[in-house]
Amino acid sequence: MTFQRTLVTSALPYANGPVHIGHLAGVYVPADIYVRYLRLKGENVLFVGGSDEHGVPVTIRARKEGITTQQVVDRYHQIIKDSFEGFGISFDVYSRTTSNTHHQLASEFFRHLYDNGKFVEQTSEQFYDPETQEFLTDRNIRGECPRCHAAGAYGDQCEKCGATLSPDELINPYNAINGNPLTKKETKHWYLPLDQYQEWLEEWILQEHKEWRPNVYGQCKSWLDGGLRPRAVTRDLDWGIPVPIEGAEGKVLYVWFDAPIGYISNTKELCDAHPEYGNWETWWKDPSTRLVHFIGKDNIVFHCIVFPTMLKAEGSYILPDNVPSNEFLNLEGDKISTSRNWAVWLNEYLVDFPGKQDVLRYVLTANAPETKDNDFTWADFQARNNNELVAIYGNFVNRALVLTKKYFDGKVPAAGTFNEYDQTTIAEFQNVKTEVEKLFNDFRFRDAQKEAMNLARIGNKYLADTEPWKVAKTDMERTATILHIALQIAANLSIAFEPFLPFSSAKLRQMLSMSEL
Ligand code: MF3
Ligand code: ZN
Repeated sequence: MTFQRTLVTSALPYANGPVHIGHLAGVYVPADIYVRYLRLKGENVLFVGGSDEHGVPVTIRARKEGITTQQVVDRYHQIIKDSFEGFGISFDVYSRTTSNTHHQLASEFFRHLYDNGKFVEQTSEQFYDPETQEFLTDRNIRGECPRCHAAGAYGDQCEKCGATLSPDELINPYNAINGNPLTKKETKHWYLPLDQYQEWLEEWILQEHKEWRPNVYGQCKSWLDGGLRPRAVTRDLDWGIPVPIEGAEGKVLYVWFDAPIGYISNTKELCDAHPEYGNWETWWKDPSTRLVHFIGKDNIVFHCIVFPTMLKAEGSYILPDNVPSNEFLNLEGDKISTSRNWAVWLNEYLVDFPGKQDVLRYVLTANAPETKDNDFTWADFQARNNNELVAIYGNFVNRALVLTKKYFDGKVPAAGTFNEYDQTTIAEFQNVKTEVEKLFNDFRFRDAQKEAMNLARIGNKYLADTEPWKVAKTDMERTATILHIALQIAANLSIAFEPFLPFSSAKLRQMLSMSEL
């Protein structure tokens, strides 16, 4: 299949708090690197993002802060959007799942599957608070732990002994919010029968997508080996998209059902408002579109199994061609945690380190958790800034430009004849392009950035070996050739680093009076 366009999505972050370096390293920087690379090559690409504004995490935050759920999502959507903009994450569209377009499209999607008999209906008994007349989610049910007998274990886990629990196991379960004792009540839900798609998924993933990253392929395989079961796609909640069928009052679409449809809605919102982006249906339904999802590892099952099954069941959509997922980034040896406030928040970084977005982008890519969990430390941040960005990239650019200013009044000197060493150097830096492209195509951004840095190393070595400051004393023609080559390397540097360090690349292009790429 030859593709004609690439649609890149990045996981929609929950609008229940600001985003942190773990989000940036795991999803948004790699996705941005990739789309910038494709744009440089002149490919037709669309980069879609947005906030995930439904689900229980948002409602919990509202309760904690004593404000409405709508206020929570309004606040964090703006903070998150500004952070991404601040770091140069170059979305073509960044919208939200509370938009009208999304509510409408997600409802229609559900309704279409419902009308075509793609769901199974099932009634089950769930915990219910008779006083507030609401069903409770696992996290909002507490009680005595059946294992260690600690008080206040959650319906999904005991934080004292670490046991994974189901609410049914709790002794004397009560409502976590008001302490009310709970009863059980029957409730009806709609399930996506993943089991019916098991064989198809095995063929599609395990046979046809062996090229997916080992961590992604491995997780899919273990889900499939375990045997898929039907999954409820509706919930008894008052925050979300109402289930669009009669008799479903008080029920909403499960957040993991509506959120990935957000990728589609946001594309539609963009294309409807700006026809120059094309028709949204071409992006989502034409088999010559290549769909790529950037996500974190906790999202693998939803993007590789559940969402593709929804798309397949609907019938008119394309499926993802790749789902590059990263592992997790830790901070100073400890798991990043919103609830423990152990994170570097992007909105705070932008205030504390103005103009230093590229430094963080660089360090997060150099340490990207592509194959295993990785650690971010401030010592490493400092070392990479000083020993790599300043000592290699900055030093080379500075020397090439200062010498040109000194000897040629800041104008690019014409080259004379190249000697053998010049030719080797030119061949070497042309080789970098081939290598970097190969790595980009394999989603290996850490190595691609390392390889790009080799351009600056080549430049530094070239200047150190040819010593134009000495040659200038006797031979201006040779000096011109040397600086001409050095400036060519600098120009190539600004191109190679455009996906990684967009702010520095723009600055360098300006210094070199280069035209737009
Ligand atoms: N909000 C989810 C998370 O942060 C990701 C949703 S991705 C989408 O884990 F596909 F559902 F949009
Ligand atoms: Zn316990």
